[in-house]
Amino acid sequence: MAVERTLSIIKPDATRRNLTGKVNAKFEDAGLRIVAQRRVQLTRGQAEAFYAVHRERPFFDSLCSSMTTGPVVVQVLEGEGAVAKNREVMGATNPEQADPGTIRKDFAESIEANSVHGSDSPENAAIEIGFFFSQVDIVG
Ligand code: CMP
Repeated sequence: MAVERTLSIIKPDATRRNLTGKVNAKFEDAGLRIVAQRRVQLTRGQAEAFYAVHRERPFFDSLCSSMTTGPVVVQVLEGEGAVAKNREVMGATNPEQADPGTIRKDFAESIEANSVHGSDSPENAAIEIGFFFSQVDIVG
């Protein structure tokens, strides 16, 4: 399988509870390498732009609010099949349906405050990485 990169966000519910290191340990234990990372306070406009594909969803407004309640950690993860591997490590969107040992099972507070975001395809990973990082920020 090819080496890929994917965009990950550690969400405000997790940074608030000081879980950045514990989340990163799950990525690294799964063989994912953190090749770029920045802690940032998203503006409302940035959250709306990042989640633009969900604009028509009933939870869009609330999601954008929750993403601006505190700092997030945006990061690029690299590894063999990184997009799918990251989704495995995160677990299902709804923590009640997430497998044991996944980030969302262990840490998420709710379906919305679900601790992490990860790109859902290599195509979206390229778009989402470009939203936060330039090539020079990524050191593999
Ligand atoms: P994420 O992987 O960041 O992608 C979109 C986000 O919307 C998702 O994680 C959740 O935080 C949120 N989300 C998805 N479905 C729901 C839902 N049914 N109710 C509230 N929030 C949701």
